[in-house]
Amino acid sequence: MTDTSALPNLPATTRCDQTVAWQALHTHFAAQGRDFDARQALTQDAGRVEAFRQTAPYISADLSKNRIDAQTEQLLLELAEQSGLAAWRDAMFAGLPINNTEQRQVLHVALRSQALAQECAWGAAIDVEEVRQTRAAMLAYAERVRADDSITDIVNIGIGGSDLGPQMAVLALEAYRHPGKRLHFVSNIDGHELAGVLAGLKPQNTLFLVASKTFTTIETMTNARSARAWFEAEGGTDVARHFAALTTNVKAAAEFGITTTFGFWDWVGGRYSLWSSIGLPIAIAIGAEHFDAFLGGAAAMDEHFRTAPLAQNLPVRLGLLDVWYRNFHGYTSRCVAPYHQGLRRLPAYLQQLEMESNGKRVDRQGQALPIGTSPVVWGEPGTNGQHAFFQMLHQGTDVVPVEFIVTREAAHTLPGHHAKLLANAIAQAQAFLQGQQGADGARDFPGNRPSTFLVLERLDPASLGALIALYEHRVFTSGALWGINSFDQFGVELGKVLAKDIEPRLASGDVQGLDASTAALVRQLQG
Ligand code: F6P
Repeated sequence: MTDTSALPNLPATTRCDQTVAWQALHTHFAAQGRDFDARQALTQDAGRVEAFRQTAPYISADLSKNRIDAQTEQLLLELAEQSGLAAWRDAMFAGLPINNTEQRQVLHVALRSQALAQECAWGAAIDVEEVRQTRAAMLAYAERVRADDSITDIVNIGIGGSDLGPQMAVLALEAYRHPGKRLHFVSNIDGHELAGVLAGLKPQNTLFLVASKTFTTIETMTNARSARAWFEAEGGTDVARHFAALTTNVKAAAEFGITTTFGFWDWVGGRYSLWSSIGLPIAIAIGAEHFDAFLGGAAAMDEHFRTAPLAQNLPVRLGLLDVWYRNFHGYTSRCVAPYHQGLRRLPAYLQQLEMESNGKRVDRQGQALPIGTSPVVWGEPGTNGQHAFFQMLHQGTDVVPVEFIVTREAAHTLPGHHAKLLANAIAQAQAFLQGQQGADGARDFPGNRPSTFLVLERLDPASLGALIALYEHRVFTSGALWGINSFDQFGVELGKVLAKDIEPRLASGDVQGLDASTAALVRQLQG
């Protein structure tokens, strides 16, 4: 663990609801914000599209269909300034232990840029050379696996941050995948998942990656043990060659019998760990050079977040919009609609990133928050979502801001598809905005339903890296304004502890001390 005792103090926390700007925003919301009509604003203000277009590395965003105007943004920027956003951002980049409840630094950004790592103060607090060597060793191993024709199937066993990020990225970068390598991801303790994957595999052609920051997670350990038992039962030999571990707990991996281990550090949060050794499946799929480009895209977004003025800073503008919608308009969810099949796991990845980071009900001091925090983040790729839940988005009683993500270029050559896909994305955003008067209420579309439109040139390693980093910093922004620690996750613990108590009860039938409902379920499912 890094010794953080010598580091300077954290910035003072000023929760956004305790600032002057917060009051001003309430006044503004009551006067204009609540009834703001983006349609009218687009008609009346010729400069609106330009004013609400924001470019950042690899990504351009059109925010003009949102329920904001120049005054809203100005007040939100004042809110950011009065809440100390820049100080907290700089504290992260300086390597201060901003994960205050666990006394940890938050330095996933240090994994993406050697130059930045040396330039900033964290160089003194973390071992930059060790980080470089670990990455080099991980990438060299990835290249060896890629060159080894006998390994055709790679099974990543991990859950949460040790699964969602690598899986999402491998799917997104399918066009760059080594054609001789199939990547599988097993996360669930539900044996149907592992059994289904193992059914198609041969031990001598399979590499298992056991990915777990802690190397204690029950799902991952159970799946890893079952995978090893299968490997041995099917005549597999040489566990050392066919199993590798990705973990901060090198000792536990060794005890498990894995000798090939790639480490990382406690200053990399699980949901921010795909840039570390946890990214090995990505590196095997796309190769070291493309993995470096992936890190480079994220580093470019880091630089943008670190240096662009708040008013022209895309993660900041998006994070402020999130606060505006959550705390003033009272919207409780946000829909992510990637119009790219490769991004089909992005909504699931973002659920962990945002909801595990900002799903908190107390501030850094442990005080109950009088305001809402993380929205529910959900979504499906377009155009599939259009034929499922878009009905509710167009005509339901709740307003749900929608986020479109498109790429100008496609990676396939099938004629006609991409233009139709893009036309649908543009048309849906247009329909949310414009609405339509129908012959009767059932055919009415109210319109003025907010959306944001993100455009990438193409889905390649660098732009994907930038996109993920954009979301990371956006979540950082809203978390900093809410005055919460976005980097712990104590809320996942209680259920884990109780599951350990329930499991033996399912065998014994002992329901003593349980509430009546839980006891009834144990009795029903016992056996
Ligand atoms: O239970 C939640 C969590 O701790 C996540 O934060 C984490 O990404 C996941 O479990 C997996 O943890 P590990 O990588 O230690 O197995």
